[in-house]
Amino acid sequence: MKLMIAIECLGDRLRIIDQSRLPHEEIYIELHGYQDTARAIRDMNIRGAPAIGVAAGYGIALGANSIKTDDSRRFQKELSEVIETITSTRPTAVNLFRIAERMKKVAAGGKDVVKIKKSLTDEAVKIHLEEERATEKISRLGAELIENGFGIITHCNTGPLATAGYGTALGVIIYAHRQGKKPRIFVDETRPRLQGSKLTAWELKQAGIPFTLITDSMAGHFMKREEINCVIAGADRIAANGYTANKIGTYSLAVLANAHGIPFYIAAPTSTIDFSLKSGYQIPIEEREPEEVTHIDGVRIAPEGVEVANPAFDITPGQYITAIITERGIIRHPLEEGIGKLV
Ligand code: MRU
Repeated sequence: MKLMIAIECLGDRLRIIDQSRLPHEEIYIELHGYQDTARAIRDMNIRGAPAIGVAAGYGIALGANSIKTDDSRRFQKELSEVIETITSTRPTAVNLFRIAERMKKVAAGGKDVVKIKKSLTDEAVKIHLEEERATEKISRLGAELIENGFGIITHCNTGPLATAGYGTALGVIIYAHRQGKKPRIFVDETRPRLQGSKLTAWELKQAGIPFTLITDSMAGHFMKREEINCVIAGADRIAANGYTANKIGTYSLAVLANAHGIPFYIAAPTSTIDFSLKSGYQIPIEEREPEEVTHIDGVRIAPEGVEVANPAFDITPGQYITAIITERGIIRHPLEEGIGKLV
């Protein structure tokens, strides 16, 4: 499968496609350090849990390389500030925190600042490669669940843009398409930020794969008409009990799928599992600016002064999840047991 490059390390800087400008403009921007990287994650120029993790790894390495001291204690202190800046950007995707922990461990394993810097850069590249391989495996494994002509709903954006790899939920669907299974793909627009209509639609168009764009509220209609055989979504964080945080609207889709007896799959790399959280309800949910709800592309669509809620993610309880597709296998019920075996 040809891979779209969502993020690329150019030595002293990163190059990303600016996802906030798609699909209108295909613009690449350069990030010249950890502060730039943190800003890009916060402003969602780069987004999607695995891609955020990869960007965090590179951002921390860039930050480490910019520290101007040979004294290892001082270096560690400044590195902590770099890591704090990167991890304070978005709270829900666990990839950010797991990668930060991993980079901290690498840095703690040495005394020579030059060597630590080199190890951190190598680690960031390794993380990127691992995510790429993991998402390729997920796509291949998940495609085994798809039969010829399956109607599939997917939510948000989980393709190469979101993963810096092959994609998770969308990776599975693209893989099945390339196997000739002719899936009928329904793309949820994914209000409020429209990652479905802006990004997933763009990625599928680029790949020449046919699909139908629907609004989020149309999912039940198509399920009732028996046009849907399964739903596949990604994840931002999966707790040890299998409860999953993903883009707002995922929970509603899962309940709907359950009511219609339709399998509901989560596709995610194991880097998205937070083994430290017993329950999904412990996952912090990011609350974003009200303008994402009151405006579309800068145009106001609601009266001035209305009260707005804008949780960016919701939690889907395990009972609505048929299986979790990871690079290490497909986890079925009891999810907690399957997840436990991965530790
Ligand atoms: O707020 P976003 O666009 O970063 O949210 C992304 C999602 O919710 C994705 O479904 C999730 O990160 C999985 S990406 C493979």
